[in-house]
Amino acid sequence: MPEKQFVVTPWEVTGHVDYDRLIRDFGTQPLAGVTAKRLEAILGEASYLVRRHIFFSHRDLNLVIDEQEKGREFFLYTGRGPSGPMHIGHILSFYFTKWLQERFHVNAYIQMTDDEKFLEEKRNLTYEETQRWAQDNIVEVSAVGFDPEKTFIFQDTEFVGHAYPLILKIARRINYSTAKSVFGFTGETNVGMSFYPAIQILPSLFERKRCLIPSAIDQDPYWRIQRDVAESLGYYKAAAIHSKFLPPLTGTQDKMSSSKPETAIYLNDDDDTVRNKIYRHAFSGGRASIEEHRKLGGNPDVDVPFQWLYMFFEPDDKRMEVIRSEYSSGRMLTGDLKNILVEKVIRFLREHRERREKARSQVRLYKKDGTLAREIWKHDFSKS
Ligand code: TYM
Repeated sequence: MPEKQFVVTPWEVTGHVDYDRLIRDFGTQPLAGVTAKRLEAILGEASYLVRRHIFFSHRDLNLVIDEQEKGREFFLYTGRGPSGPMHIGHILSFYFTKWLQERFHVNAYIQMTDDEKFLEEKRNLTYEETQRWAQDNIVEVSAVGFDPEKTFIFQDTEFVGHAYPLILKIARRINYSTAKSVFGFTGETNVGMSFYPAIQILPSLFERKRCLIPSAIDQDPYWRIQRDVAESLGYYKAAAIHSKFLPPLTGTQDKMSSSKPETAIYLNDDDDTVRNKIYRHAFSGGRASIEEHRKLGGNPDVDVPFQWLYMFFEPDDKRMEVIRSEYSSGRMLTGDLKNILVEKVIRFLREHRERREKARSQVRLYKKDGTLAREIWKHDFSKS
């Protein structure tokens, strides 16, 4: 049988993603065995994300853990391209990064790439729209609860001028044919896009320590280039930990899409919207009739409510196994499974919303006045 086609780039995820194949194609390591066990032991409440292979792949994570055990610190880096409201998939890596920060007590840098989203022409966003979304998304990210003294959140258009000397040093080391082959640039791509990789690489060189980058695997092409240039600049190759994509509500193919609101749940969706989207649009692995379902059982592998619980919303393994066996035996109906997810999502969003209101007053600390933010704004990047 021919292999199903799928595409994963920083700008596009389509088809049914074969994650084992991505590990081979991208040249990353599966997150399994001793490295996974070591990370699980450190993670506490978030260890299910590793145990269940939601974070399934990495680069040099073993070296990061080795250094930490020897008392040498590393730092965390992640980001968001502010092209619209953030959905549940976008926030997963931020919560994971926060859990890592809590466990390791390390600095975290968060880049908001309003420049990238303006340059991506197919998004058709005006400069002002990218600015507005950057401000909105910074509040969402602040609600995650990072340590305000150890976290720096910055918006590229406000910050990168300050770090321009280091950006230039990065850019001079990336030749066009590498960028073209990694990102698929063509003659029609605007020149801003070919310069942009230097900007996404920048935060990985904020400190002369190892940098660990949590994200979904679509961002890995940037780290491949980073790893080609970092050592020649006197820095470490970036380490990365990659997650799978939380599937769209409408099925297990492709990615959630801002242009199709029924495919995603946004952090600002109210309770009724959450209920409506899940009851009306969540793709079910249930059978056509109740009788058939009771007889044959549901299929959790294609059932999006089941997948969302497994991938993020239900950390308790025992509970998850009960749901799996009840559903696949037909004792639990599609509606019951959706009810469980609705309750979990509504509770998660309520808590996130409450933190968001409190976080508004913290934004100043993350961007300018916290200890780490002050250090970075004072740093002389011409000496980097
Ligand atoms: P962006 O805004 O496309 O995505 C933000 C983060 O969310 C991840 N992601 C997902 N994770 C799980 N399920 C999904 N369905 C899903 N969709 C997106 C992305 O991998 C990312 O971690 N260029 C970047 C911004 C950026 C960045 C970074 C991201 C700058 N520096 C460092 C990660 C790490 C972007 O546009 O992300």
